[in-house]
Amino acid sequence: MDKDNGCKEKPHILVVDDESNILTAMSLVLQPEFDVTVAKTGDKAVKKIRRGMDFDVISLDLQMPGLSGIESLKAVKQLSPSTEVLIVTAHSDAESTRGALKLGAYDYIDKPFSNAELVASIRKGVERRSNTTGVEKTKEQLAFVKAQLIQSEKFSAIGQLLAGVAHELNNPLTTIMGFSEILLLRKGSSDRTRNYLEKINESSLLCKNIVQKLLAFSRKEGAKQEYIQINQVIESILELKQHDFKVDGIQVVKQLADNMLGTTANFYELQQVFLNIINNAHQAMKMHAGTGTLTVKSSFDEKVIRINFLDTGPGIPEKNLQKIFEPLFTTKKKGEGTGLGLSICYEIIKEHKGNIFVANNQGKGACFAIEIPIVDQQKSLNLG
Ligand SMILES: Nc1ncnc2c1ncn2[C@@H]1O[C@H](COP(=O)(O)OP(=O)(O)OP(=O)(O)O)[C@@H](O)[C@H]1O
Ligand SMILES: [Mg+2]
Repeated sequence: MDKDNGCKEKPHILVVDDESNILTAMSLVLQPEFDVTVAKTGDKAVKKIRRGMDFDVISLDLQMPGLSGIESLKAVKQLSPSTEVLIVTAHSDAESTRGALKLGAYDYIDKPFSNAELVASIRKGVERRSNTTGVEKTKEQLAFVKAQLIQSEKFSAIGQLLAGVAHELNNPLTTIMGFSEILLLRKGSSDRTRNYLEKINESSLLCKNIVQKLLAFSRKEGAKQEYIQINQVIESILELKQHDFKVDGIQVVKQLADNMLGTTANFYELQQVFLNIINNAHQAMKMHAGTGTLTVKSSFDEKVIRINFLDTGPGIPEKNLQKIFEPLFTTKKKGEGTGLGLSICYEIIKEHKGNIFVANNQGKGACFAIEIPIVDQQKSLNLG
């Protein structure tokens, strides 16, 4: 995933100490710069990692009841070798400290330490982690580009197939809808017959929606592009969703950039993209906790407009992250999702020569990032 696409988080630090006062003090010092989690015992710390939480740096008290600092360090390094561990010693116990360094801790500090000392040591660990993961990241990026290449081939084949199917379905569907409506308008039918006809009509409407999605997915380029303001697209969709959100008690936090540059794009297609992402976030939060908060951010530099959608739903399981932009991939029950929403978003954003990314917000929900290149007004006027 791109480093600065707005889904980037503060480095994650876990502070482990059996003294509550020390935990509170260290958290307060570190919080402005880092995302801090605390644990009162080594066992609790190890449990968090086992549950899949990822920390860049762990500050580990050497003297703790239960699982000792050294034992915790061993377990941490086994479960997550790239996590950096800072040892905190009450009184410099040279032998244990040496042992800890041998086991992979990158540094130690003696209690009492100054705030500046603590922050500097943690920063050092964060930097080490980002360096060690640098090579892995490059590998990941290469794999991502490869996967995208395969994806785009797969997309065009599936797109052609879907377009064909959708087209063929349109005629019989129009017939079903048309005749059921005519029969519904006839007087003298029994209630039972009317009930059946209404069901036929409702189901054919559902099919029509699916066919429209299929056609949107496989539609050919050439849709009208004009000079637009992305913030207006966002506002229009949030307005559309206002009532639904109110019903489910979903809070919306808007952080839209001031004086944003306009760009050349298709207003309605981008509306569709934002609506699909927002609908997914809405559904995820509703299923997860019944309610939640959606944060929508926009920002820009001289080349790119960036839009982020963060929700407080369950997030996306790691194994699904690679698949969610694939057509027909869905985790929803039959009839609740076609699995086309995000693949349509992907297609539209690619057509705009942009990028779409997804990341998890450390168990706090999903984050979608969209980047759209800024195309100047002059060019858009020429496009007519
Ligand atoms: N914000 C989110 N939080 C959690 N999971 C998500 C989120 N957005 C997407 N997903 C996952 O990605 C899958 C694919 O999403 P997509 O929008 O393509 O299809 P869908 O929502 O299942 O169906 P539809 O075609 O009706 O949109 C979803 O089924 C869901 O598992
Ligand atoms: Mg969807």
